Amino acid sequence: MSATLIDGKPISAAVKAKVAAEAARLARDHGLVPGLAVVLVGEDPASTVYVRNKGKATIEAGLRSFEHKLPEHTSEAELLALIARLNADPTVHGILVQLPVPAHIDSQAVIQAISPDKDVDGLHPMNSGRLASGLAALVPCTPLGCLHMLKTVRPQLAGLEAVVVGRSNLVGKPVAQLLLAENCTVTIAHSRTRDLPAVCRRADILVAAVGRPEMLRGDWVKPGAIVIDVGINRVPAGEGKTRLIGDVAFAEAAEIASAITPVPGGVGLMTVACLLANTLKAASMQAG
Ligand code: GUN
Repeated sequence: MSATLIDGKPISAAVKAKVAAEAARLARDHGLVPGLAVVLVGEDPASTVYVRNKGKATIEAGLRSFEHKLPEHTSEAELLALIARLNADPTVHGILVQLPVPAHIDSQAVIQAISPDKDVDGLHPMNSGRLASGLAALVPCTPLGCLHMLKTVRPQLAGLEAVVVGRSNLVGKPVAQLLLAENCTVTIAHSRTRDLPAVCRRADILVAAVGRPEMLRGDWVKPGAIVIDVGINRVPAGEGKTRLIGDVAFAEAAEIASAITPVPGGVGLMTVACLLANTLKAASMQAG
């Protein structure tokens, strides 16, 4: 491997330490303890782990954690009623409903029920619209983490060609907006893009957020490019075990890129750290 490894461990630890220090200052000077409510509907195993990790990290940073675990059969009306209570609760500064929600619940109705001021996921159209308009906004955590990791190896991004593979509201679109705001030339590629390998080979910055294990091969990477792998795919590893791999064929890409994030231990760690940072930001904004 010739690429620099962009290691999520120290980078996320530094973000968390900064949040913890700022939270301690808010508590000391203003008696304010930022609170994050995380709502999980159902028992999806991956979501259950994510929610547990979020709660643990929240407490470790000195913030207040409120976990709401609702049964799979919870109705949309019941979930919306909980969100209305959390919106009105002054000790809750951030609200995150873990996605996906069960199929009988309209995820857009849920996202839009969250007060934009408490929308630490940055998914409310008010926040995505503000981001797209270049206004102050709560920005989705994973894209924030991607940008932060990128800047550790390349602080100035202006003029670079960025290709984002994936167009989800959670990652692809907001990461493209952040790169655009950094004055990159941004292409959003997706499943209907013609000659995807050729498009990827244009990229100085290649962000993979498609959710397909090792779809991006080494020969899709331009020599010297920076590769950010957002994929978290659980695949069989023999003997009934599983392992996590990214959307990028890591060993191949690491021979060609100048820097690359690993999976696990990359962007995933940053998502939680940026969630804490967003909760702190939301609390500070609400305190005026
Ligand atoms: N599911 C997977 N990633 C996320 C995330 O960042 N936020 C929410 N709410 N759900 C998710």
